[in-house]
Amino acid sequence: PRPILLTRHGESMYNVRGRIGGDSVISDTGELYAKKLANFVEKRLKSERAASIWTSTLQRTILTASPITGFPKIQWRALDEINAGVCDGMTYEEIKKNMPEEYESRKKDKLRYRYPRGESYLDVIQRLEPVIIELERQRAPVVVISHQAVLRALYAYFADRPLKEIPHIEVPLHTIIEIQMGVTGVQEKRYKLMD
Ligand code: F6P
Repeated sequence: PRPILLTRHGESMYNVRGRIGGDSVISDTGELYAKKLANFVEKRLKSERAASIWTSTLQRTILTASPITGFPKIQWRALDEINAGVCDGMTYEEIKKNMPEEYESRKKDKLRYRYPRGESYLDVIQRLEPVIIELERQRAPVVVISHQAVLRALYAYFADRPLKEIPHIEVPLHTIIEIQMGVTGVQEKRYKLMD
C-alpha cells in the first residue's frame, strides 16, 4: 500500500479576512503549519525515495510546500482552487448583499452552480481527471497540497463518496488526510497538526 496525503495550504491572508479565491500569501499561522507539515512529511516518507509533492500554481500552496526538502515538487494548474469568477476576492457576506440571486442559486445547487465567468464544482471535478489518472498511476507516495473545493473532489473520488455530497465534505485547514490504497480497499487517517 502506498499513501496519498491530501492537505489544504496553510492559512492564507484571504482566509483570515474571509475572502474567497485570490492569490494571497500565507499568514504566520499558515507558515507554522508549513513547518509542521514539512516535519511530518519528512518523517512519514523518509525512505520513500520516489515520493513527490504536488501543489497548485497559487502562492499559498507553493509557500506551504516550501519548507519540505528532499522531494521533487510539481505544480498543476488543475489543482488551483475553484474559480469564483466575478465573485473572486469577495466575502460570502458581500456576495449575499450585492448579488443575492447568485448567492441563492449557489445555495440551492452548490454542485452545479457556476460562478459568472468562473467555475462550478462539476467543472472542477472534470478538470481533475488528468490529476486523478496520474495519481492512480503513481507507485510512490504523493503529497497533494491544494484547496478546499479541489480537495473535496479528490477526496470524494478516493473515498468513494457520492457526487451530491462533494461540495459539503469537511476539509479543514491544517489537517492531513492520509489515504492508503491497498489490495483490500481504501483506508483513511486524519492528522490534525495544529489546534
Ligand atoms: O475560502 C477558501 C476557499 O478555498 C475559497 O477560495 C473557495 O472559493 C472556497 O473555499 C470553496 O469552498 P465553498 O465551495 O464552500 O465556497
